Amino acid sequence: MKEKIKEIHSKALSDISNANVLDELTNIRNIYLSKKSELMSFMSKMKELSHEERISFGQLINSVKEDISSRIEEKRISLEEEKLKDQLNKEIVDFTLPGRDHSKGSKHPFNAIVDQVCEIFIGMGYQIAEGPEVETDEFNFELLNVPKGHPARDMQDSFFIDDSLLMRSQTSPVQARVMLSKKGIGPIKIISPGKVYRRDDDATHSHQFGQIEGLVIDKNINMGNLLSTLELFAKAMFGEKREVRMRSSYFPFTEPSVEADISCFECGGKGCSLCKGTGWIEILGAGMVHPNVLRMCGFDENEYQGFAFGIGIERVAMLKYGIDDIRKFYTNDKRFNKQFYKE
Ligand code: PHE
Repeated sequence: MKEKIKEIHSKALSDISNANVLDELTNIRNIYLSKKSELMSFMSKMKELSHEERISFGQLINSVKEDISSRIEEKRISLEEEKLKDQLNKEIVDFTLPGRDHSKGSKHPFNAIVDQVCEIFIGMGYQIAEGPEVETDEFNFELLNVPKGHPARDMQDSFFIDDSLLMRSQTSPVQARVMLSKKGIGPIKIISPGKVYRRDDDATHSHQFGQIEGLVIDKNINMGNLLSTLELFAKAMFGEKREVRMRSSYFPFTEPSVEADISCFECGGKGCSLCKGTGWIEILGAGMVHPNVLRMCGFDENEYQGFAFGIGIERVAMLKYGIDDIRKFYTNDKRFNKQFYKE
């Protein structure tokens, strides 16, 4: 038996020294040291031996076992080192190579305008308000003095979801939402940027576009306040020399209603292709909040007055950055986006 054990021992040692990969060592451990291995099967035969023989035999098996186990361990360490060395040799890092260039994004011209307009009005003490894009007929039209069947609905050909829900056609419903939330107690001074939807599609109109609504409600508010606010805005946005003129217009929720023009920033008012020779560029719709709207939205029209305005975001961006087609805003072309806004 001792001969046989020595044979197993030397076979194990030669297997270990011939092993080239770590998996082989796991196999060798199974073959020589597992409970079912030949070496271990000798253990069960020990009871047939005399006491002395059992001691020396047991010691022999243990020392062989320990030796095989420690050789396997040594070999494992050396194979692992080799593997690491190989890997390091293969994965050479060349620190002298130039780094990869990460292309840096830029603000979309739409968002650049929203941020600039918001900043101007926040500077005048306005707060930002938000409203849902899927709006009820009540907020989008009825509370804004446009009852069902009113011809003014035709101005804003709309996307209805059902009889009483639509994609909002303007940001003006935020006026009604804010007024109702204030329960008849002023003052209110908000702007509300967001997306609106209309059945429009050409170079200057898109079925989805952005507006910024403004609303001020307080006691003793008049057209002069509206004009001076718009002048401050025009100068901050388009340059100190800008002037504002108001032309009378019609919106159902303001009375009187106006369209505001700014003096052309391209030609300074002399007349050019941008202002189509008029010296003026139309920039927003505005007016004094209609008493019906104040009343329906919970304000006493004898105590409070207000003004409101609506600015087209793409329109401002197109004017300011000289963009000729509104559809370019939505094509996600980075080259387009990058041209206009510098941090
Ligand atoms: N909501 C109007 C539009 O979309 C603009 C507007 C807003 C006019 C506020 C007056 C007051 O055309």
